[in-house]
Amino acid sequence: MSQRYYIVGNWKMNGMRAALSEARAIDRAAQRLPKVEVALAPPATLIAAMREAMTNIGVGAQNCHADDKGAHTGDLSASMLREAGADFVIVGHSERRADHHETNGDVKAKAEAAQAIEMGVILCVGETEDQRDSGEAEEIVARQLASSLPNGCQRLSVAYEPIWAIGTGRVPQVADVAAMHKRLRGVLVDKYGEAEGGAVRILYGGSVNGDNAAELLAVPEVGGALVGGASLTADGFVPIIVAAA
Ligand code: G3P
Repeated sequence: MSQRYYIVGNWKMNGMRAALSEARAIDRAAQRLPKVEVALAPPATLIAAMREAMTNIGVGAQNCHADDKGAHTGDLSASMLREAGADFVIVGHSERRADHHETNGDVKAKAEAAQAIEMGVILCVGETEDQRDSGEAEEIVARQLASSLPNGCQRLSVAYEPIWAIGTGRVPQVADVAAMHKRLRGVLVDKYGEAEGGAVRILYGGSVNGDNAAELLAVPEVGGALVGGASLTADGFVPIIVAAA
C-alpha cells in the first residue's frame, strides 16, 4: 500500500478537558512516527481546545448535520465543526445508526455536506452478529456501503466496523477481514472507478489494540484503523501507531 496508514481514535462520549494531556502525549508520539497519519475525534466540546494543542495529528468530529444551518436544536453543521477546528467528520457510525436511527440516505447526505466544504469524511459500515452468523455479512455490508456513499470520493475514507466487535474484545478472523475489505474495495471501484475508488482508504475498526494492530494492518486492503477504547490514552493508542509505522 503506497499511502500512509491512517490511524484514527474515536473518543465517542468520553473526554473532559483533563484528557487533553493524553492527546498531547499522542501528538508527541505522532511527531516521532511521521510515516503514519494520525487523528483523534474527540467530543465536539473538545475540538477547539484539541486543535489548539495539536501540531502533528488531525482533529475531527464524530457527526454532523446534513444542513448548513437552521432549526435543528442541539445539532452542529459541518461548517460549525470546521470552524471549531475539525478537519474531518465520522459519519454513519453504528452507534449513531442505532441510537439516532440514521439511514444510509442520512449518512450519504452528511458525507456530502462535509465534502462540500472540503472536510474529510470517515464513513462507517458494519454488520450485526446475527448478520455475520447468517453468512450474509459481505452482501449486507456491501449494500450498506453502496447506499451510503457520497457522489464523489474526495477526502473519503471508509471504516469497516463489525458491530459485534466494537468494545467487546472480539475481532474477526483475519480471513474474514480480508474478504470484507476486498468486497468493499469492489463497491468503491464500481462507484468511483479504478483509480479513485482504488485510492479510498478502508480502515478496520472493532477492538483494535496494541497487541492485534500489526496483524490487522497487514491484511490486504486494510489502510488503517478506527479505534475506540484504546485511543483514550497514550498508553493504549501509541502502540497502535507504532504498529502502523
Ligand atoms: O469507532 C471506533 C469503534 O467503534 C471501535 O471501538 O472500542 O472496539 O475500539 P473499540
